[in-house]
Amino acid sequence: MAGEDNSEQALVVGGQGGIGCAVATQLAQDARFDAVWTVSRKTSTSKGVQCLRPLHTDHSEESIKTLSEQVLEESPRLTRVVIALGTLHGEGYGPEKSLEALQRTSMEVVYRVNCVLPLLWLSALAPGLRKNPDCRVAVLSARVGSIGDNGLGGWYSYRSAKAALNMGLKCASIELARRAKGVKLMAFHPGTVDTALSEPFQRGVPEGKLFTPEFVAERLSGLLDEHPADGALSYLDWAGESIPW
Ligand SMILES: NC(=O)c1ccc[n+]([C@@H]2O[C@H](COP(=O)([O-])OP(=O)(O)OC[C@H]3O[C@@H](n4cnc5c(N)ncnc54)[C@H](OP(=O)(O)O)[C@@H]3O)[C@@H](O)[C@H]2O)c1
Repeated sequence: MAGEDNSEQALVVGGQGGIGCAVATQLAQDARFDAVWTVSRKTSTSKGVQCLRPLHTDHSEESIKTLSEQVLEESPRLTRVVIALGTLHGEGYGPEKSLEALQRTSMEVVYRVNCVLPLLWLSALAPGLRKNPDCRVAVLSARVGSIGDNGLGGWYSYRSAKAALNMGLKCASIELARRAKGVKLMAFHPGTVDTALSEPFQRGVPEGKLFTPEFVAERLSGLLDEHPADGALSYLDWAGESIPW
């Protein structure tokens, strides 16, 4: 069991992705935290870092429920949750440029990873949030999920999955403002970050605008520290600027 003295605990879902791993490493170096749970489909070790607690999942509903219960039970003061799941391209799918390119199977994968799974994790963690009143929860969204900001079109599945994620988070923020006052929810756009997800699309990125995962992890950590629990969902980019819905 974690939680000696007044120590805090954190959970990173997708803790072996490019951004998730950087967030978990950064939290593990933060003296406030004595346990940082990282959840991934990959088996991993704590890399000798004492407070890293790797957990393996297949993201089935059963696994999400069991692991959430374990984390909540063994974390007396869970103050950070970062959900960093997402996919843009993979075996047989990628961002669609035209309506004709839409395929049911790839849409289902993209919706599942970007929207369904993050919301299922939030759902499984919800009962514990009431007992952790100063918990800050960030879910990795993307600016391209903004309907108001969409001037280019394309990327149908990814854009609409992130827009649906944002709506789910909005509902959650309204519910949590009643059920778990003090919990802060954030939909976070990290900018273009040098990870496997963005790798095929990095060519047009202006100089200085392709961020390292470590830079983004620092930015997110600062924003989570700064933002008061106001019962609202913040949709923010890496610079702390609000993104239109
Ligand atoms: N990189 C960017 O430029 C950028 C820009 C805007 C938004 N984002 C968002 O930031 C978040 C993190 O992305 P990243 O850049 O760190 O990408 P990444 O390195 O590819 O990591 C993707 C994460 O999603 C999980 N994942 C991927 N496919 C999955 C599947 N089929 N089932 C379950 N889990 C799956 C991976 O889990 P495992 O560890 O289990 O493999 C990993 O944790 C995503 O939500 C992404 O949309 C990224």
